[in-house]
Amino acid sequence: MQITVHHGQLLEELKTLASFSSEPSPVVTRVVFTEADRKARAYLKQLCAEAGLQTREDAVGNTFFRWPGTDATLAAVGTGSHIDAIPNAGMYDGTVGVLGGLEAIRSLQRAGYAPKRPIELLLFTSEEPTRFGIGCLGSRLLAGATAPGAAQQLKDTDGKGLDEVRSEAGFAGQLEDVLLPVGHYEYFVELHIEQGPLLEREGISIGIVTNIAAPASLRMEVEGEGGHAGALLMPDRHDALAAAAEVILAVEAAAKSTGVVDTVATVGMCDVFPGAVNSVPSRVRLSLDVRDTDLTRRDRVLSQIEHACNEVAARRGVRVALEFLNADAPAVSDARILDAIAGACAAHGISSKRMVSRAYHDSLFMSRVSPMAMVFIPCRNGVSHRPDEYASPEDIARGVLVLAQTLAELAG
Ligand code: GLV
Ligand code: MN
Ligand code: MN
Repeated sequence: MQITVHHGQLLEELKTLASFSSEPSPVVTRVVFTEADRKARAYLKQLCAEAGLQTREDAVGNTFFRWPGTDATLAAVGTGSHIDAIPNAGMYDGTVGVLGGLEAIRSLQRAGYAPKRPIELLLFTSEEPTRFGIGCLGSRLLAGATAPGAAQQLKDTDGKGLDEVRSEAGFAGQLEDVLLPVGHYEYFVELHIEQGPLLEREGISIGIVTNIAAPASLRMEVEGEGGHAGALLMPDRHDALAAAAEVILAVEAAAKSTGVVDTVATVGMCDVFPGAVNSVPSRVRLSLDVRDTDLTRRDRVLSQIEHACNEVAARRGVRVALEFLNADAPAVSDARILDAIAGACAAHGISSKRMVSRAYHDSLFMSRVSPMAMVFIPCRNGVSHRPDEYASPEDIARGVLVLAQTLAELAG
């Protein structure tokens, strides 16, 4: 079978998708269920209809585009990713797996291939945690990793509940119905940019992802005592921001203490109250993101951080509270899919290596309901979650070619 990827068309589609953003180009900000997200969804639905795919949307907005197989009794092969983008992001994170997945399907259609199993392209809702504080919302619900009742308790950054927000966006069904029936997918494979520097550094075209690191995220709140910045004497202070600064350094030290590059910890948000130049901070809210490929090691780092928080709190006379948003296990890829990806690379003379994903992806949760693996392509300087995120058209085309060949192999 001769598979030809139309990478010029794909690049135009990626650019059009990037234009649906709440910030001007080159910034892409596309928070779930905002106008930009709705327009992007409509665009994708139009492209998939043009490709003759059947569309289904679930109650949380996960969208399925199906290419029926010749044997209706067989479970599907899934592929896909997300199109939401964090504030001040670029145009490739997630989108390469969605539009690239579509182009993989179209390239197989053009090659005259008829799959035995259905091939289904997925757009997952809210892979990014921006709006509801939790990543992979759609795939968590699909996989039963988050219960519908717990999802209903989620509030967005304006305090609006998930049910209200999703129904405003036109998704009004029961969250209970989002759960995938057992055995819906025989295989799931996601194409994504690496978001790290290794492939580019080593001059390798394709990363074959063997496992996905375990993420945990928490909210931290430091409560001290505020007052007049001139009049409150230093010995009498319980400055919440000074305490938070110590907590942040303790987070960094805890991650570094493992001596392993796979351990990472980040405080990415810091909200200071009351936030006035002449007022001692009384309250600070921090976010905490801790990840590791090894679950025990990640949890040890979390305990170390908790211990440091207690120590800072006691010494400075402040209160430090930690609230877990999620603490997920790592995922291991399926050996048959890894072999299919490696075979596809070999068949097309494309260099590849097996590697870990330190970022999380919807595949982390799809692994709970289906054998899963991922295909990575290089991105410039390993940059992601920034407007200057870039993957070359050639690398994208190779990723799509490998995905198409892999889907054909898995779908029979
Ligand atoms: C996904 O965007 C992640 O933060 O890993
Ligand atoms: Mn991302
Ligand atoms: Mn992503």
